[in-house]
Amino acid sequence: MKLLITNIKQLLQIRDHKISKVSGKEMNSLPSISNAYLRIENDMIIDYGPMSDLKEINVDKTIDATGKIVMPTWCDSHTHIVYDGDRSQEFVDRINGLTYEEIANRGGGILNSAKKVQDATEDELYKQASDRLKNLIHLGTGAIEIKSGYGLTVDAELKMLRVIKRLAANFEIPIKATFLGAHAVPKEFKHNPNAYVDLIISEMLPEIAKENLAEYIDVFCEKGYFSIEQSERILKAGKLFGLIPKIHVNQFNAFGGVSLGVKYNALSVDHIEELNEDDITALKGSETMPVALPSCSYFLSIPYTPGREIIDAGLPLALASDYNPGSTPSGNMNFVISTACIKMKLTPEEAINAATINGAYAMGISDSYGSITKGKKANVIITKAVPSYNTLPYAFGDNNIDSVIISGKVYK
Ligand code: NIG
Ligand code: FE
Repeated sequence: MKLLITNIKQLLQIRDHKISKVSGKEMNSLPSISNAYLRIENDMIIDYGPMSDLKEINVDKTIDATGKIVMPTWCDSHTHIVYDGDRSQEFVDRINGLTYEEIANRGGGILNSAKKVQDATEDELYKQASDRLKNLIHLGTGAIEIKSGYGLTVDAELKMLRVIKRLAANFEIPIKATFLGAHAVPKEFKHNPNAYVDLIISEMLPEIAKENLAEYIDVFCEKGYFSIEQSERILKAGKLFGLIPKIHVNQFNAFGGVSLGVKYNALSVDHIEELNEDDITALKGSETMPVALPSCSYFLSIPYTPGREIIDAGLPLALASDYNPGSTPSGNMNFVISTACIKMKLTPEEAINAATINGAYAMGISDSYGSITKGKKANVIITKAVPSYNTLPYAFGDNNIDSVIISGKVYK
């Protein structure tokens, strides 16, 4: 199948193959071509350039993108979309005055979702997650990472990971699986959390490795969840089983989790709403991607990740949704980039870089996704006619996407 997109108002995020992420000042530039064409063959980008260079060629289909922007699809490197039902009651409880922490302490929060996931069948979980995923693709997400972590028993964690594996087999977008058994301490282990860490290491990890169910390992390193010592044991054990670390850190408290992530060469450190000088120092000179989740800050009314400071320190930054039933019941990456501009003072160029090439890096796929590059996979967004790409973050809450191309085909 040969596809040609013509008269593109702006073709965005054109990068050389050797660029795997962008950092600091580079994040403020978004290489583009005005009045451009893009050629796709099967599932691959094969050529692009200004319309004046377009030679006469035979294609199967032409899309006229007059007035529209074409860019890589969003790369959402942090989600929890496998869950059962919702937690809208907790949302109302928070409106009525309870805090996220108080709800968790009463047995709500992650433990509430864990109970539901334990009771749901694999098919029920698959159906719900695949509906969420279809919706996300229509919103422009063309690569995604999904975590376990609402199982919290051997069986339920494996069930979640098998659902993710099935999604990966049935959807055309890349789906990366992360094992997050250390998401919360189940109440049976309340008085002996180390025994739960033992269970993760001695029973969950070997089975996950045997069935090849995950590529990454994650821990919620936070007061009331997992300590530095417990997180270290888990990341270390995960590495022995060939899993690459990612880590939920500094959502509410900064106490050394970022340095721990860097020490274990984590691919990303995520949340970091709280960040101190030591954390910035640890990230400098590392290959670890800081990931901000502004929709979570929006929904929980907690501070935003200091993305401006991170970029001004010369570091890279990725943006992801954190889609989950408790802290972020939305996976809309268009809202994420808007919120990053409005609340974190990122420029549109920085936000788009953070949600494409840097997001791809944060899930280990920037060699094939995240930019318009010859030889990369043809996952692209075609916007509606807009004055410029600034409209994407500016017109917050609007859907400016006309169509999404996945593996070279218009997604239906
Ligand atoms: O990334 N912070 C930890 N985990 C999720 C929220 C989990 C929940 O409330 O269900 C997050 O925000
Ligand atoms: Fe999360």
